Amino acid sequence: MISFSGVTKSYGKGKKLRTVVDDFTLDVDVPIFGFLGQNGAGKTTIMKMTVGLLMPTAGTIGIDGVPSQSAAAKSKIGFMPETPYFYERMTGIDFLRFCDELYGSPEKDHRGRYETILKKVGIFEARSQEIRTYSKGMRQRLGFAQALVNDPEYLFLDEPLDGLDPLGRREMKAVMLRLKSEGRKIFLNTHILYDVEEICDEVGIIHEGKLLYAGGVKEFCAGKPLEERFVETVTGAKNGVRRMENELLKIH
Ligand SMILES: Nc1ncnc2c1ncn2[C@@H]1O[C@H](COP(=O)(O)OP(=O)(O)OP(=O)(O)O)[C@@H](O)[C@H]1O
Ligand SMILES: [Mg+2]
Repeated sequence: MISFSGVTKSYGKGKKLRTVVDDFTLDVDVPIFGFLGQNGAGKTTIMKMTVGLLMPTAGTIGIDGVPSQSAAAKSKIGFMPETPYFYERMTGIDFLRFCDELYGSPEKDHRGRYETILKKVGIFEARSQEIRTYSKGMRQRLGFAQALVNDPEYLFLDEPLDGLDPLGRREMKAVMLRLKSEGRKIFLNTHILYDVEEICDEVGIIHEGKLLYAGGVKEFCAGKPLEERFVETVTGAKNGVRRMENELLKIH
């Protein structure tokens, strides 16, 4: 289980203080969790705090009861960043070996394992090509592959379907469902509602750093299209803020 408790992230000081994640509290215990929100809502910030790339200003994040930034939790986590960074002169397979070594996997060359992963994400044929020759979609797949290199139980994927063509999206969604059937858990940042409807067991909606909803997709939709409910929820929150601001104006 992934547990967020009072997680807050602020940037700046004094008058410039900006809280981008605000008292985020949630338990995630489903195979595929879709985390939805507009650009700038706070999805990447929450994911980076979870995998230990950013420190929360306040609050805690736990994975199976231990702090998510501890070595015990990190060994269970795979992370695919929004914009993966690659060493362009490495081949796909070299890159996986490099990432594996970063995780502390010893000297032994696990070539067979890397090949299996590359097959899984559909770039096996390009395994010996330098990354500089990869297309955007191939890079995205390699980013996905590196998240699998330590055989993680929990996968944090930040918009993994970005840049893929329709067929590629379909393939990657099938990969995610296969990972789910292997018993892995996926936390998926996205703003593509259709993908959430198709593969997610639960959805969370974040808006301006605040969690607006978490739970079943069907329950959230209540018979309406997800897009309509999403827009309703997000604009409802905005109207709520506006109402509050109007009330304050009246007071002053
Ligand atoms: N280093 C930083 N300093 C100041 N503000 C930041 C920093 N990093 C992110 N932010 C702000 O935090 C907010 C949340 O950003 P975040 O990247 O988490 O959004 P997101 O939901 O992932 O958006 P997108 O869908 O565009 O990827 C944004 O308003 C962004 O400007
Ligand atoms: Mg993001």
